[in-house]
Amino acid sequence: MRKKVIIANWKMNKTRDEALDFIYMVNDKMPDQNKVSTVVCAQAILLRCLVKRQGDNLRIGAENMFYKDEGAYTGEISPVVLKSTGVEYVILGHSERRNLFMESDEMINLKVKAAINHGLKPILCVGETLEQIDDADKVIDDQLRKCLDGVSDISSIIIGYEPVWAIGTGKSADAKIAEDRISKIRKILNDMYGAVSNEVSIVYGGSVSPNNIRSFLNEPNIDGALIGNSALDPNKYVEMVLAAIE
Ligand code: PGA
Repeated sequence: MRKKVIIANWKMNKTRDEALDFIYMVNDKMPDQNKVSTVVCAQAILLRCLVKRQGDNLRIGAENMFYKDEGAYTGEISPVVLKSTGVEYVILGHSERRNLFMESDEMINLKVKAAINHGLKPILCVGETLEQIDDADKVIDDQLRKCLDGVSDISSIIIGYEPVWAIGTGKSADAKIAEDRISKIRKILNDMYGAVSNEVSIVYGGSVSPNNIRSFLNEPNIDGALIGNSALDPNKYVEMVLAAIE
């Protein structure tokens, strides 16, 4: 049985005080449970102070990192330093990184390998843009195979299926379509890695909210959600975790 995962992606939001308020509130309201993994991904500069306050019921992740351990890469985040902060997860290949910061599948592939080498759990994002919607299966297949090229162990990876047109738009994908795409992702993983693919958590992301999260969680292949806007609010975040526990 795969555990459900509810991941908040705060993006470039929240001050240090706002971030701490969120963590205190959520720690307070979160029931003791082991059915759902809960992760909050925040800006790099906030990670250490959040990690100090993480509990078993709330783990912390980064939103990005570089693939080199050290060197002349001004402004980048070393996986070694990330690991030393106590962070457990790292989002890689988010569409905002792909589109605004020109990250290629090849670069994301190097990052995935670096994360695994340093004992970080990658949350690897794939998904089609609106222009690519008619070729979505092929686009996703291509992204997955390139981003996982040479990766031999996928046991620590979470895959996020995030149709780019659904991110931050308030227009989520239909749960049945998301299920179809995610079951195809699982088939590709099966083709690449065999039976272990059944243990990989694959989550949906794109305008998930307390109102629609159940429709995704009810689908057999959707193991949770990657949530931006709605996960900025601690009450909504807890509500979505509770929906996954039900
Ligand atoms: P959203 O963002 O929930 O605001 O659509 C999701 C994401 O970017 O991961």
